[in-house]
This record gives sequence, structure tokens and C-alpha cells, in this order.
Amino acid sequence: MKGLILSGGKGTRLRPITYTSAKQLVPVANKPVLFRVIESIRDAGIDEIGIVIGDTGPEVRAAVGDGRRWGVRITYIPQDSPAGLAHAVKISRDFLGDDRFVMFLGDNCIQGGISPLIEEFGASDRNAQIVLTQVPNPQAYGVVELDTQGRILKLTEKPREPKSNLALVGIYMFDSSIWQAVEAIKPSWRGELEITDAIQWLVEHGMKVFPYIHEGWWIDTGKKDDMLEANRLVLDELQPRNSGYIDRDTQVIGKVIIEAGAEIINSTIRGPAIIGEHTRVVNSYVGPFTSIYHHCVIENSEVEHSIVLEHSTVRNLPGRLEDSLVGRYVDISQSPIKPKAYRLVLGDHSTVGVL
Ligand code: DAU
Repeated sequence: MKGLILSGGKGTRLRPITYTSAKQLVPVANKPVLFRVIESIRDAGIDEIGIVIGDTGPEVRAAVGDGRRWGVRITYIPQDSPAGLAHAVKISRDFLGDDRFVMFLGDNCIQGGISPLIEEFGASDRNAQIVLTQVPNPQAYGVVELDTQGRILKLTEKPREPKSNLALVGIYMFDSSIWQAVEAIKPSWRGELEITDAIQWLVEHGMKVFPYIHEGWWIDTGKKDDMLEANRLVLDELQPRNSGYIDRDTQVIGKVIIEAGAEIINSTIRGPAIIGEHTRVVNSYVGPFTSIYHHCVIENSEVEHSIVLEHSTVRNLPGRLEDSLVGRYVDISQSPIKPKAYRLVLGDHSTVGVL
């Protein structure tokens, strides 16, 4: 079996962070979501992986490389425009050939990996397998209706009035019958070739499409709050470890990971939390569900339930930073310059809540 990861697309919902960078590379618990996806495919025993890339392709290539780090071989498949998930499959035909494959959306985070799913599909005569889970807001996803015996009746992409609360998780398994389906379908109302329509085509043409219900958590990390939620869930499952330096005036409480080269001075870190490589936390409080990435400085400040990306600085804040996603090379501080005022340099579409 081969793996196909979709890492193109626009990522407008995470802007301004994703104006210039790939949303799949935003880290959850200090590891990019895309790396987590590669690892779960590798852990399922697949070592040939294609990655579909778009505008942010150079950045994805630079971060992932040839895959040797994970013991896999990566082939990049450029997509001219984000014309839909089924379009991404279509342009991957040369790479996939007639092999069975698993397709994984590069911005999806799932509990428990995919090994059992892959094993089940590999050993079966099914033409396709989809993964479903119950959600409170099905209109935001592809939605699947099942009959009383659990067979698929209908798939609809982001329906206004969903007929069930079963959403399509971004993990799909196909055999070569998918090629006929992606050739047959037409673009949807949003102008995309929808994988949902391709699967509907398989169902209507008598193919065996098996719906697998996932019971653990699953997050599509498209928006800030989803990102923070994925961060919360992943941090909660990590094992504590200290590979850095903690001085004797510091208190570390609960599940905390301190990565190599990090320094914690006269501070309180209350887990679950992770402090990245070469980050300094001085006279500060880092609260639960916080990930501070590498080469950051947190000084005389309080940060909780947040993600701070690499090379950022948070200094002398009078109030606690909470529920926040801070980009790369960001500098947040209280300024001594009089008169007292907010002095900001913010990118387009930034959101700031002041005291
Ligand atoms: O996350 C699950 C949902 O993913 C499913 O429930 C939906 O049925 C499915 O259509 C998809 O919906 P989204 O609107 O969330 O898809 P999004 O545009 O965010 O793209 C998902 C990933 O695929 C993302 O990593 C970008 C990549 N992508 C997307 C498009 C449209 C590509 O690589 N190429 C593309 O053309």
C-alpha cells in the first residue's frame, strides 16, 4: 500500500499565520501536524508516501525533505491550484499506479493512529473505506447517512441541513476503482472536485465502500480554536520529560516536557505543557495546555492555553496571555515609552483582545 498526504490548499482560516506558511506545518505540542500525519502512516507499515503541495510547496519540502528522517520515501506532487480533494487524487495517478492507498489530509489530527484501519482494509476485498465520527456541527464537514444496517446511503459535502451527525474524517482508503470515479465526477457548487462525490459515485456503482466509525478524538486543525483544542488533547497524552535545565527556584507541576537546551528560571510551569528547544522561561508562569516552540523567550509574563511559535518573545506583560496563537518571530511586550499606549505592528487579519 502507498500513502497520499494532501498538503496543498489555501489555509485562509488560520491567517495571518498561513499567509506565508503552510497550515499543515503549524505545530501541535511542538510537532507540526504534517509530521504527525507522516508518522501515523509510517507506523501503519507504509514507507512510500506522496505529498500533494500547492503555493506553500517550497516550505513543505524544506521542512519534510526526502523522508529519510522517518524511514520513508517522499515524492512531491505539485498541484497548480487547490481544485479539490478529488483533483489532488487525480493528479497523483502516476505516483499511485494501481496500488491500494490511504489518503490522509495533512491538517487532520487523530487519536490512536491508523494501523488497525490499514490492516483491516489491506486484508479485505473492499474497494474503499471511509472513516466517520460523530460531531456536534456536521454542516462544517462531509456528512454521511447510513441505513439501519450501517450501510452507506448518501454522502453530502457541507450540507446546510445535515441528515446525520456523522462527519467524514480526513482519512480515506481506496483501490484502483477510484480512478473511474474521479474521472466521472464534475466540480461542485464551490468549484471543487469533491472526494465526497467520488465516493458517492463508488457507492452508486455497486462498489464495496466500508464506513468505519472512529470513537476517539479527531480534530481538523483548520482554525485557531481547533488548533488549541488539538494542542490540549495531544499534550494530555504525552509523557513528561526533562531534557533541559530547571533552576531550583522553579516549580514544575504535572505533565511537563522540557526539551533540550531549554532553560527555566524562577518560574512555575503547570502542565500539561511543553517548552521547546533553546527556549528561556524567566520569572514567568506557563499554565496548562500551552506549547512554547523553540528559541522563544517568556519573561516576567504569564501564558496559558496557548501556542507560541518559534523565535517569539513575550516580555513584561501586565495581564495573562490566554487562548492565543502567536506566530513566528513575534515580539509582545510592555513598553516603557511614555505616554502609555498600545503600539502595534499587526499583519492583515490579525485579532487582538486588549485589557
Ligand atoms: O477535515 C475533514 C473534511 O476535509 C471532510 O469532512 C470534508 O468532507 C472534506 O472535503 C475536507 O473538507 P475541508 O473543507 O476541511 O478541506 P480543506 O479545504 O481544508 O482541505 C483539506 C486538506 O487538503 C488541507 O490540508 C489542504 C489540502 N488540499 C485541499 C484542496 C481543496 C489540497 O492539497 N488540495 C486541494 O485542492
